[in-house]
Formats: sequence, C-alpha cells, structure tokens
Amino acid sequence: MTETIEITQPILQMKGIHKWFGRVHALRGVDLDINPGEIVGLCGDNGAGKSTLIKVISGYHAAEQGTMSWEGKEVRFSSPHNARDVGIETVYQEQALAPNMSIARNIFMGREPTRLLGLMDKKAMAEESMEALTSLGLRIRSSNTLVATLSGGQRQGVAIARVIHFKARLVILDEPTIALAVKEVREVLEFVRHLKSEGAAVIFISHTLPHVLDVTDRIMVMAHGGKIADIVTSETDVDDLSDIIVRGTYGD
Ligand SMILES: Nc1ncnc2c1ncn2[C@@H]1O[C@H](COP(=O)(O)OP(=O)(O)OP(=O)(O)O)[C@@H](O)[C@H]1O
Ligand SMILES: [Mg+2]
Repeated sequence: MTETIEITQPILQMKGIHKWFGRVHALRGVDLDINPGEIVGLCGDNGAGKSTLIKVISGYHAAEQGTMSWEGKEVRFSSPHNARDVGIETVYQEQALAPNMSIARNIFMGREPTRLLGLMDKKAMAEESMEALTSLGLRIRSSNTLVATLSGGQRQGVAIARVIHFKARLVILDEPTIALAVKEVREVLEFVRHLKSEGAAVIFISHTLPHVLDVTDRIMVMAHGGKIADIVTSETDVDDLSDIIVRGTYGD
C-alpha cells in the first residue's frame, strides 16, 4: 500500500515559509514542492527572493515561520552540513571551486577519503574523480589538472561531478550558465540533464529564460518574496514567462 505513496511523494516540501532580514520581508509565505528526479526552474526579478529561498533549503538561513519536509519527514536545518547530510547540494557560480587545486582535490574538498593515520587517500581520490567526470561525459585527461586551466563550462562540470559523486538527491544550481560561451552553455545544460538521469532532482535558478525553458520540467516564478506562478514548462514560452516576471503578478 505504501509503495505508490512513496513514489509520488515530493522529495522536498515547503509550506508557508517566511524570512525577514530586519524589516525586509524577503520570503512571504512560500509553498514549494519538488518531486524526485524533477528539474524545476526558479525565476523572478532581482530581489524577488530566489537566493534567499534556496539558502533556506540548503541550511544557510533559518526561516522564521513555516515548515519544511524532506522525504515526508519534517526537518529543520541549522547549518549547511545538516542539508548536505540528507543529500541536498548547492552549486554556486565560481566560488565553489579552488582554482589552484587539482580537479580531484576540488571534487573531495572537505570530504577527503583517508587511510591509516588520517592520510589522504590520493589514489582513491584520483580514481573516483575520473569516474565521476567520465560518467558526466566530461573528457579530461587527468584529475590532477588544475581547475585554473579549465574553461567555465568545464568548471561547472567539475562542480556537478562533485555532487554526482556524493550522490546528491537534490541539486541546487544558482545561475550555472552565467558568463559562459554558447558552446559551454550547451555542455552545462547537458550536465543538468545528466543529473536528472542519475535520479537527482534539480532546482535551476537563472535569468536567462531560453536556458530555463530548454532544461526544466516545471518553472516557479517569484516576485516580492512570494510565489506568483508554478507552470509546466511545455505550457509556456519566453514571451509568456517574461510577461509574468515583469508584471510581477499572474492570473489577472
Ligand atoms: N543577508 C541579507 N541581509 C539583508 N537583506 C537581504 C539579505 N539577503 C537578501 N536580502 C534582501 O532580501 C530580498 C530578496 O533577495 P534575494 O537575494 O533572495 O533575491 P534574488 O531573487 O536572489 O535576486 P537576484 O536575481 O538579484 O539574485 C532583497 O530585498 C534583498 O535585498
Ligand atoms: Mg540571487
């Protein structure tokens, strides 16, 4: 009896989330459901509350009101570690990687496998990094390569390989295609599809509507700290979506 319920249950469910920064009411009662393996776009004008919302999900901010459930159980994260422990990984633009370290070190940063006496297991790191890069279709000769020598698209690939390696259940990508060349954008959108094929759910934040329309299953639009639309991607287009965002209201 429980089997079908488990399959259709959202992996993440937020209800009535409020967040204040002093007198700024940044989130005004946001409801959000993310289903397993679903790619959800998060759009909205500057200051709409997108980053604040994902920071609540990833444990950087605590909401003052509202509830959050993970796989059906109510959770309250008091740090990013708590969110990571359940399988929520956030990939920020650039700052997530250390350019002067190897790809392997970047993939394991802070979670290095160790051997006796706490020594880093470099061989395991090299092998497992190459495995994650290959599974993503990222062709790089060696995991010893310094991140500084990679293109923007390849760097996003390394950040995504990291979350694949740690078997994230929900991956949050904040503006992953910003400042990338056309060919790199295509690569990154392909990586996002790969995450889905690995069974992860994805939240994709972007101001570039064609990228959002290309890669998502559903799009949520925010304005002034609230959710104003939740639309199936195949039922909207660039004009419709930009109208909703610019107007800041939906429906009438
Ligand atoms: N740490 C903070 N302290 C005070 N105010 C904040 C803080 N973070 C965000 N805000 C405010 O909360 C509101 C929502 O900001 P948020 O960064 O979530 O918007 P956003 O949708 O991510 O915008 P953008 O597209 O520009 O990244 C804004 O009014 C912003 O000024
Ligand atoms: Mg933001």
